[in-house]
Amino acid sequence: MEHVQGKTAVITGAASGIGRAMARTFGEAGMRVVMADVEGTSLEQARKDVAAAGIEAVAHVCDVSQADAVSGLAEVAKDAFGGIHVVCNNAGVFAGGTTWGTPSSDYEWVINVNIWGVIHGLQTFVPILLEQDEPGHVVNTASMAGLTTGPMTAAYFMSKHAVVSMSESLFHELKAREAKVGVSVVCPELVDTRIGEAERNRPHHLKRDDEELPNETKLVEAAIKASTPTGVEPKVLAERALAAIQENQFWVLPPDGDPWRRAAKQRCDDIVHARNPTLAGPAAGD
Ligand SMILES: NC(=O)c1ccc[n+]([C@@H]2O[C@H](COP(=O)([O-])OP(=O)(O)OC[C@H]3O[C@@H](n4cnc5c(N)ncnc54)[C@H](O)[C@@H]3O)[C@@H](O)[C@H]2O)c1
Repeated sequence: MEHVQGKTAVITGAASGIGRAMARTFGEAGMRVVMADVEGTSLEQARKDVAAAGIEAVAHVCDVSQADAVSGLAEVAKDAFGGIHVVCNNAGVFAGGTTWGTPSSDYEWVINVNIWGVIHGLQTFVPILLEQDEPGHVVNTASMAGLTTGPMTAAYFMSKHAVVSMSESLFHELKAREAKVGVSVVCPELVDTRIGEAERNRPHHLKRDDEELPNETKLVEAAIKASTPTGVEPKVLAERALAAIQENQFWVLPPDGDPWRRAAKQRCDDIVHARNPTLAGPAAGD
């Protein structure tokens, strides 16, 4: 989708971090943006900031884990701007813990937002993009966690592998139809956002007992919170995503030579040679 000027982008998780940066960067490129998030107050603040930069922006509170809420988002976008051209399924949350020690409430929360959120986005928006029969693009935010594996982050890594896999399926499906709609999967390295404070958006019915948490969970979550300020700026990811839309590039990855890319290659090599998994990349302290 070479020309983005005057086109509309719908972005979930737009109140903070990468989604918020996408709204700003896409808007500066001439797009109109529909910003969605479950956190109403910070969403409204983010919309005001974007609008103050002269960008046409609409905000809509939406929990992506709820199919009806995502359908409602599409209606809001159509009412505001007519067509929809770019859809960024970006909202996501993090919980740490081992495969066996992660409480069901954590699995459920992470799966509901990170996987069902993307499924709802695809079920809602892909038919609209196909029906419009105009150039369009779907951007799914996964993670380098979706291309690698590591210990003590079971629910999150699994969820991001699912996002990568769905994105690849979508790519093949759209190509087979010769659709005018492209797909990108954004796989960020560590980014300076509030993902380490994802707990703030956990629904009440999935609250966990912090006293009962295994030590691994506490350690990993504290480590994520402490390390994100050392990550790249969200704007970097937004610029990569915009370039991918314009150049119809599927993989949106950290630069060549990044330790996460080495870890992804190591995993592929292990699979091809049927070797047991090697702990590589940042998960191994690289
Ligand atoms: N920050 C990183 O290091 C990093 C690395 C790789 C991938 N990612 C991915 O980037 C995406 C954006 O996260 P971020 O790092 O900007 O974190 P962030 O916490 O700053 O932003 C995520 C946003 O998603 C929103 N959100 C949470 N649950 C929601 C729901 N049910 N419905 C709608 N919105 C919801 C939050 O309110 C928040 O505004 C996520 O998918 C995350 O997994 C982040």
